[in-house]
Amino acid sequence: MASTKSSSPIGKAETRTEMRSLISIADLTNDEIEEIFSLADAVQRLRSERPANGQIMATLFYEPSTRTRLSFESAMQRLGGSVISCSDMKSSSVAKGETLADTAKVVSAYADVLVVRHNWDGAVQAMAEHADVPVINAGDGGHEHPTQTLCDLYTLRQEKGALKGLTVVVCGDLKNGRTIHSLVFALARFGANVVTLAANGMELPQYVLERLEREYDYALAPMASDDLSAVMTETDALYLTPKQPHQLALFTQVDEVIQARLNSLATGLRYDAFYMTRKQKERMKDGAADASYPTIGPEFLREQRFQDTVVMHPLPRVDELSPELDRDWRGIYFKQAAYGVPVRMALLKFLFDRREAKAAAPINKAPAYKSPEKLGPQCHNPNCVTLKEPVSTDKRFELFTVGENGTLILGCAYCDHRFKVQFVGDVKSKRYCSYDHSLAGQIDGWLEKKQLAIFNSIKEAEELGYEPIKSGPQRALMNDVEIASALAEMSRQILRDCRDPDRLLILGVRSVGSQLAQRIAAEIENQRKRKIELGEIEIYGSGDEIKRLAPADPDAAPLSLKDREVILVDDVVHTGRTVKSALSIIFRSGRPQSVRLAVLIDRGHREVPVKPNYVGKNIPSSEKDRVRVKLRGLEQEEKDQVVIFSVIGPADAVKSPSAGGEKKAARS
Ligand code: CP
Repeated sequence: MASTKSSSPIGKAETRTEMRSLISIADLTNDEIEEIFSLADAVQRLRSERPANGQIMATLFYEPSTRTRLSFESAMQRLGGSVISCSDMKSSSVAKGETLADTAKVVSAYADVLVVRHNWDGAVQAMAEHADVPVINAGDGGHEHPTQTLCDLYTLRQEKGALKGLTVVVCGDLKNGRTIHSLVFALARFGANVVTLAANGMELPQYVLERLEREYDYALAPMASDDLSAVMTETDALYLTPKQPHQLALFTQVDEVIQARLNSLATGLRYDAFYMTRKQKERMKDGAADASYPTIGPEFLREQRFQDTVVMHPLPRVDELSPELDRDWRGIYFKQAAYGVPVRMALLKFLFDRREAKAAAPINKAPAYKSPEKLGPQCHNPNCVTLKEPVSTDKRFELFTVGENGTLILGCAYCDHRFKVQFVGDVKSKRYCSYDHSLAGQIDGWLEKKQLAIFNSIKEAEELGYEPIKSGPQRALMNDVEIASALAEMSRQILRDCRDPDRLLILGVRSVGSQLAQRIAAEIENQRKRKIELGEIEIYGSGDEIKRLAPADPDAAPLSLKDREVILVDDVVHTGRTVKSALSIIFRSGRPQSVRLAVLIDRGHREVPVKPNYVGKNIPSSEKDRVRVKLRGLEQEEKDQVVIFSVIGPADAVKSPSAGGEKKAARS
C-alpha cells in the first residue's frame, strides 16, 4: 500500500511518520484483500460498533460519480463517522488555480481520510504525497480504480466462491477503462484466467500487459474469437493466464499446432463471468468516440455455454447491456454496485486500524529512478499528472530491462506508463550515448553512484552540456556566409507568405533555435523597418514554457498566441520529436491563427509527420551522424558553421580505450 510521508498537522495529537493510502490495487496484498472481505462479511457488526465515531472523511471528486462517492459517504456514516465534501470541485479554490499539492495539504488538516477522484492519471498519487492523512484513489484518469476492484472481487467471491481458477472475460474499452486495469491485476494475482475482448482500437494498454507479465508472471495468447461471436460482434480475444502451471506462454500465433490446441482449450473453457464496460468517451479524441462498440445482447441468455456465466459492469452503463439481462439472475451489476457500501466500510475500518502501519512492499517493483540532472526524462503519457501539474509531483520512475536484448524501460511512478530509454549519460563525465544493452554493466555502475542521466533526445543531452561518449572527426557543411544567406532567404519567404505582418510572432526553440529566431526576426525587422515580437520555447525546462525575448520591456505582458501567425524556428529537424513537443506547447498556450516551421537544416529522418515550411539546407545524412549548428557566441564559437560528425556506437566506445577522448575534436 502506498505510504505517505507526513508531518504532524496542527490540531492533530499524534506524530505520523508513514500512512497507508490506497492508490493502486497493488498496494494491498492478497491476504489484506481477504481480510477486507472478512470485514465486509461482518458488516452488521461494523454498523453496531461504529468504529469511525469522531472521524471525518473528505470526498474530493474532480470528476462525476454516483456509486463511488455515495457508497463511500454512506459507508463512512454507517461506521459512525461523518463526511465533508465539495459539491463541485469547480466551485472550490481549484477554480482559482490551487494545486493538487496545496489542496491535499489543506484538506488533510480538516479530515482523517481523503477520498479523491481525478481526471488525470496519477493525480491521486500526487495528492497522497502531500497529504497528512491516508488518501484513497476513487479513480484517477484512465489509470486505476482499486476500490471498484475490491467490489468486483467481492461480488465474484459471493457468486462463485474462490477466485483462483475462475475465467473472467473482460469486454469493451480496455484501453481507457480504469476499473479494468485494476481488475486484471487483481485477477492475475488471485490466479484467475482473463480473456480480453476489446472493442476495436481499445485493447489493454501495453503497460498493463507488460506489468502482468513482469510482476505477475502472466502470459497472454491470442484466442479464436469465433467462440464468443454469438454474443460479441467484435474480434480478437486474448487469453491471459498464469505461466505456471498451464504454460500457456508457449502458445503463439505462428505455431499452428499449438494454436489449434489453444483454440480447443478456449472452446472448452467455462466462462464464469463477463465483465462489460462502457466506452469511456470522455477520455477519447473526437472520432474514436464514434467507433463501433460491442454489446451483450439477448442471445447471451439463450447460449447453453453461458448458463452459469454472470454479467458484471462497474456502471454507469450506456447501451452495451441488453435490458433483458436486468431481469435475468445472471445480470448481477446492481448487486455489484450495492456491495460498494459493505466493501468500502470494510476498507475504511481496515485503513483506520492501520493508519500508522507501514505499507507492505509492493510485489516485484523495480528500483526507483530520479534524474540527478535538474531536467530529467518526462513521462510520455499526455494525461499524466507529471505533465499536467509538474509542481505537485516528484518525477520518479521505475527502471528495468525487458526482453532478450535488454531494452531499458522507464515506468512512471504516477501513471505507470512505460517508455523506452534511448539516450543515457554520466553526470560526472558529462558524456552521453544512445542506450545499448552492452552498456548494462556500466549503467548499473552509474545508477549505483546516482550518476545516471536519462534523456528524451540527443538535443536534450546537448542542451545540458553533454558530449557524445565518442565521436569521429567532424566536417564543415555550411560556413558563416552560407548560413547568413540561408537565414536571409528564409526571412524573405516568411514575410512573403505572411497574411498580416503585424500578427507575426517568431518563436525559437531554446537554445540554438532561439538564436536563429533572433537573427530571422532581425532580418524581418530590417526588411519591414518595424519591430516584431519574438519569444523562446523551453521544451526541457520546468518553468515558463514560452517566454518573451523582444520587445524586452520587463513590464511587457506575456506573449499572447491568440490569432498570431507563429513561425517556429529550430536549428535541425531530425526525428521531428522536438518540433512535436514545441507544437504541443504552442497549442497548450493559446490558439494561434497558424504555425509554420522554419529550420536551418532538414535531415530527413522524421519519425513524426512534421514538414518544415522554410528550410535553409537539406542534408540527408546517416542515422549515426550528428549534425550540429554552431553559432558564434554560443559554445565559444568564433564563427557560425554547420558541422557533421559520426557518433561511435556505445559498444565500440566502451571497448575503446580512447572512449571519451574526443571532446576537443567534437568542439573544434
Ligand atoms: N463504478 C463507478 O466508479 O461508478 P461512479 O462513476 O458512479 O462512481
